[in-house]
Amino acid sequence: MRLLVTGGAGFIGANFCHYWHQRFPDGTLVVLDALTYAGNRASLQALEGVKGFRFVHGDINDRALVEKLLREGRLNVIVHFAAESHVDRSIHDPDAFLRTNILGTHSLLQAARSYWLEGPQGLISHRFHHISTDEVYGTLGPQDPAFREDTPYAPNSPYAASKAASDHLVRAYQHTYGLSTTTSNCSNNYGPFHFPEKLIPLVILNILHGRPLPIYGDGQQIRDWLFVEDHCQGIALILEQGKEGESYNIGGHNEWANLEIVRLICQLLDEAFAADATLAKQFPHAAPAQGKRSESLITYVQDRPGHDRRYAIDAVKIGGELGYAPQHSFAAGIRKTVDWYLQNRDWWQPLLGEAYAEWIQKQYVREPGGSRN
Ligand code: NAD
Ligand code: DAU
Repeated sequence: MRLLVTGGAGFIGANFCHYWHQRFPDGTLVVLDALTYAGNRASLQALEGVKGFRFVHGDINDRALVEKLLREGRLNVIVHFAAESHVDRSIHDPDAFLRTNILGTHSLLQAARSYWLEGPQGLISHRFHHISTDEVYGTLGPQDPAFREDTPYAPNSPYAASKAASDHLVRAYQHTYGLSTTTSNCSNNYGPFHFPEKLIPLVILNILHGRPLPIYGDGQQIRDWLFVEDHCQGIALILEQGKEGESYNIGGHNEWANLEIVRLICQLLDEAFAADATLAKQFPHAAPAQGKRSESLITYVQDRPGHDRRYAIDAVKIGGELGYAPQHSFAAGIRKTVDWYLQNRDWWQPLLGEAYAEWIQKQYVREPGGSRN
């Protein structure tokens, strides 16, 4: 397989590139990434200079560029991560979500169809793998069964709606033109290289800076957390054995209320500071460096409009058909993640510039006014 990885400088894309390179050190890996605020070449630093790896700064909407990359590299697999991915941003400004997630995916599909199905060499054996999300299924009540591949789509945020639209386009290109596609719908990922606008890295960095930990609404919303490397394993299995036209749900059977996750991270950081006195010197504003418990930073704020209450993934299909099983317990994965942020300040410090501060500042969700009930 010679891969074009879109969005490879983002959180999951970068983790996937490292995962794939470890498995196939001689493989071809071309990353196409527009380097939006969420894209970061530093996440791919370890791959720079490696034979077979190439980074291309460009937009998935640039169809001519995509066709050129496919042709030049004789690439026969696209793994499509590129997206606007943050729900809160989609509520503030949905335009970019439609442009990248819907039009961008369509542009990629057109390029793939043109080169793989209708190019001068005729039909080329290929695969288009689309990375999607569990958010397309909407929200669950406390007793509802977890999302299956045949759960009806009911997206609730502009982000989720844009991802649902892209899933449908992928399906249509397979059904109508015979493009060989697969799709995966995954639950919430966490781990290294996660941009600190998302709950877990935001909480870690806010503790280190002594800033409030914003809990939307009552903090009882439930997410099903998966260590990012386990998501990458699932994607690799689908690339290797997945059936054309199929969708696979990927998850970790690991449901947590937001407030409980935040409390757990607080506890882990309090323990880390207690065990290592040098941390207080490195992060003097951190709550535990000031003799306070990290939990004291918890602040209830206004809820996210339309906030989905619960997500849960039924991963029986990928487990049964492709032998998928997550390799990381949550206890191990979250500890690894906290340690990674403590040890990789060089990676996250440059991200906390003006634009980041502006985003944090202007977010309505950061205004006090949430409730515990
Ligand atoms: P991310 O926001 O961290 O990264 C997105 C990447 O795409 C960035 O590198 C960005 O520069 C790039 N990009 C954005 N617009 C582009 C464009 N027009 N052309 C080229 N590149 C562009 O996102 P992520 O969290 O790594 O998510 C990756 C994919 O996985 C997304 O499709 C997302 O919907 C899906 N997903 C994410 C999660 C999660 O928990 N993060 C869970 C399930 C599915
Ligand atoms: O379920 C998969 C999805 O998970 C992906 O498709 C998205 O790309 C990804 O961003 C993620 O979406 P969420 O909205 O679930 O993730 P986020 O980290 O933004 O929020 C997780 C939960 O925490 C959610 O219920 C909102 C809440 N939250 C979030 C932030 C940033 C807070 O309470 N406070 C916060 O400051």
